Amino acid sequence: MAMVSTYCPQFSGLRRSCPKLDNSQSQCFVQHINSQLRLSSSSRKPCRAVVAMAGSGKFFVGGNWKCNGTKDSITKLVSDLNSAKLESDVDVVVAPPFVYLDLVKASLTDRIEVSAQNSWVGKGGAFTGEISVEQIKDLGCKWVILGHSERRHIIGEDDQFIGKKAAYALSEGLGVIACIGELLEEREAGKTFDVCFQQLKAFADAVPSWDNIVIAYEPVWAIGTGKVATPEQAQEVHVALRDWLKKNVSEEVASKTRIIYGGSVNGGNCVELAKKEDIDGFLVGGASLKGPEFATIVNSVTAKKVAA
Ligand code: PGA
Repeated sequence: MAMVSTYCPQFSGLRRSCPKLDNSQSQCFVQHINSQLRLSSSSRKPCRAVVAMAGSGKFFVGGNWKCNGTKDSITKLVSDLNSAKLESDVDVVVAPPFVYLDLVKASLTDRIEVSAQNSWVGKGGAFTGEISVEQIKDLGCKWVILGHSERRHIIGEDDQFIGKKAAYALSEGLGVIACIGELLEEREAGKTFDVCFQQLKAFADAVPSWDNIVIAYEPVWAIGTGKVATPEQAQEVHVALRDWLKKNVSEEVASKTRIIYGGSVNGGNCVELAKKEDIDGFLVGGASLKGPEFATIVNSVTAKKVAA
């Protein structure tokens, strides 16, 4: 899109200054600004509100329930989510354990999409214990989480295998929440960017299109530890990832692809994280098991809205 080539990051609070625009460029620039403006439906203030996002994608919040829950607790969680008041300007997705996907899909409001937590690398068949993309789709799920650190580091999935899974899921029409992130020792050794770029490259090498991918940056040291990355730490990596996409894929993909943060996000820290312009949402583990707290995290999108 021509619009992308005249992308002026400064408008939405990015680091670079805006180049001088000629006439046709300024027309595109205006279109771009319009696409960046989102009127706040919930705000009663008379002034307009602007979404401070470096990317152009809609805020995205996923709840990863992992290997938690029983029929009873999941029924309660679904009922809490069904009655929660959620801001409209957010894509909301939850990922229950496989065995409860059908139950959740059948009882959860259509406002919230359902994701699987993993999928088999190709077409289903004689693969004992695996769940195929076809089966996930058959239940009405729209997304799958791939490359989660618990699968990389506990189960031992490698970059190439994860890339193949992503390519297959996308080819069958599922959206992919593509997780990447460094271990504590890698951060301490100054390798955060190298590790994240390598994991991102494995996805980039495998997938034909980025239309249906959300990137989840999840530093492993922050997952389930209560040690959340500071907003500055997260923002620093998100900017670098967007720049990597710009240089290695395209400017359009860099702008459109949501880069969400995961790792000890909760109702208390989500607002400060959401204010960072390259943080396009969250992937939430522990706190997504509590309906009201998950709703608070979804609604942190309002922190993106600043008086114009
Ligand atoms: P956490 O998990 O929020 O419990 O840290 C995040 C994730 O693993 O996606």
